[in-house]
Amino acid sequence: MAVIAQKCPKIKVTVVDINPKRIADWNDEDLDKLPIYEPGLKEVVAEARGRNLFFSTDVDAAIKEAQMIFISVNTPTKTYGKGKGMAADLKYVELCARQIAAVATDDKIVVEKSTLPVRTAQAIRSILDNVGNGVKYQILSNPEFLAEGTAIDDLHNADRVLIGGDHHTSEGQAAMDALANIYAHWLPKERILQTNVWSSELSKLTANAFLAQRVSSINALSALCEKTGADVEEVARAIGSDSRIGPKFLKASVGFGGSCFQKDILNLVYICRSLGLQEVADYWEQVIIMNDYQKRRFAENIISTLYNTVSGKKIAFLGWAFKKDTNDTRETAAMYVASILMEDNAEIHIYDPKVTKQQMISDLEYLTASQHHSITTSQIKEQLHVHSDPYLATENAHSIALLTEWDEFKTYDWQLIYDEMMKPAFVFDGRNILNAKELKAIGFKLYQIGK
Ligand code: UDX
Repeated sequence: MAVIAQKCPKIKVTVVDINPKRIADWNDEDLDKLPIYEPGLKEVVAEARGRNLFFSTDVDAAIKEAQMIFISVNTPTKTYGKGKGMAADLKYVELCARQIAAVATDDKIVVEKSTLPVRTAQAIRSILDNVGNGVKYQILSNPEFLAEGTAIDDLHNADRVLIGGDHHTSEGQAAMDALANIYAHWLPKERILQTNVWSSELSKLTANAFLAQRVSSINALSALCEKTGADVEEVARAIGSDSRIGPKFLKASVGFGGSCFQKDILNLVYICRSLGLQEVADYWEQVIIMNDYQKRRFAENIISTLYNTVSGKKIAFLGWAFKKDTNDTRETAAMYVASILMEDNAEIHIYDPKVTKQQMISDLEYLTASQHHSITTSQIKEQLHVHSDPYLATENAHSIALLTEWDEFKTYDWQLIYDEMMKPAFVFDGRNILNAKELKAIGFKLYQIGK
């Protein structure tokens, strides 16, 4: 929304949220207090805020005033009842639709921006159409393809924008054109694709599934490389230079994280299973199984290298965010690795440039609530140590695990770190970010994925 406001100064954009603290942070004079860390975001907010970009808690007033309403609430994986652990929880979307229905007094275009499973637009439509106050709604699907850490650039230079709507009626077509015109302020027309609503919803889920599948494919090969002496980076380069395959999303890693990949694939699996497509469901589920395997393999490699126990040992974590240039930690591989090591009684010392201690604790508490992990709240209290200085995090450590590819890690004085560690000192690199030769020269034993 900030980018829309930046690029369309004549359009008034009001972002509303029921959480007053969050809105206060978005309105804070100090732009470093914005709730989301994203390179370039504060400059965009600085340009548009107060001009045509507003943040408010008055949801009803904003609904009344708007001609177009974007529903951008979260759709986490259901943690209860039918579809638990797989289906998307549409509770928040439904609440939004009900509030719009209760408040609107003139015709609206409602745009679903959250990633939603196929046919959600129908649910929104039935809620909106059954209020009977004569207001007409057009429902569009406009999934977001930006990736965190590069969000502003992804929006400024989007490969494509998808707008799903109803081609068959003139009102439907007009609504799609109205939204297309917004994006046309800064994107060439040929990148703005119009489809039917179901195609648009399904494209978002499956685009993520295809990307995640590539990461799981290369991660599966990393395990094979370790056994056979091949170098996964060389293999990835060879595969990626086939232009039909291409070089992107072929970096072996400790496993993909983030709010989208796992959730969207689980959702896809759930939809396929609900439609009786068992084999298709199993096929996509395997991408998740491979990802879980990779995270576990990384943690177990640490334990086996440290003579089969990490009990009482200090393991330093550099990085907690699910990738660099974001403070988002949803589904980060780091928390799974931490949990497995803490089950083996390790002391985990973490440094991340952007993630708060409170966030790390709540990530681990989320895992304790899930059935696959057995760490307790008191273990989290006792075995988790968060540092604001990377050198203190690594001092006297038995090993260092690199969980996020933050650029600043490359600038550290690694000789100093090595000198202050327990010997022998090990580095486990899930993201291949350091100069392996130099680290080896100092004396580190390096464990890189795929080598
Ligand atoms: C993703 C999609 O890219 C985006 O289009 C969609 O709108 C939301 O989901 P995001 O979750 O922000 O975006 O991150 P992305 O850059 O796609 O990375 C996802 C995960 O895969 C990260 O944990 C990343 O480190 C990992 N990854 C990515 C790899 O392990 N190897 C790669 O080669 C690429």
